Amino acid sequence: MAENKLAKVAAEARLCTRCPLYQTAMQTVFGEGPVGARLMLVGEQPGDQEDLVGKPFVGPAGKMLDKALIDAGVDRTKVYVTNVVKHFKNEPRGKRRLHRKPNRSEVEVCKVWLDQEITIVRPQLVVAMGVTAASALVGEAVTLSRLRGNEIAFADGQRGVVTIHPSSILRAPDEIGRRLAYAGLVKDLKLALTRARPRSP
Ligand code: URA
Repeated sequence: MAENKLAKVAAEARLCTRCPLYQTAMQTVFGEGPVGARLMLVGEQPGDQEDLVGKPFVGPAGKMLDKALIDAGVDRTKVYVTNVVKHFKNEPRGKRRLHRKPNRSEVEVCKVWLDQEITIVRPQLVVAMGVTAASALVGEAVTLSRLRGNEIAFADGQRGVVTIHPSSILRAPDEIGRRLAYAGLVKDLKLALTRARPRSP
């Protein structure tokens, strides 16, 4: 059964030492959601909260994503949510752990897990959130603005849509910037929802 297969892959990922990131993270944060979900959302890597809780998108970026999903009419419980990199890459600063961007080799090495999630979950459409996810799925460095607004095909032929990372809304310099960025995310999620059609028989 696909659920068992996914659980087995998640268990293997929990023991992953394919790159050094497991050494400074608390745990592997694997994807979450139903097998057969029509939509799969892919972020960059777990953040501080996700690393502590062991679930994707439960921290501030997750709250922003939850709000955008509601506004786009997407039920998160029916969506598979995951990340390209499964360990939190961080740098200690006093009592805090600062987010560090994963490098190309960490992304490449970790993508075996995402590839298996896609194969087993078989989503109709994958939404790459942010440039790390988009570049990993397209297979080369991309510019988000060039790819947004239309359905595209990722490197493996998987149907996809590209959007911003929800955390970029939190980093916008002012309220107008935040509103515009948020509206853009909701618009992209609505596009994804309309494109995630059921498979023809
Ligand atoms: N940012 C991500 O890319 N993924 C998470 O799970 C949380 C924050």
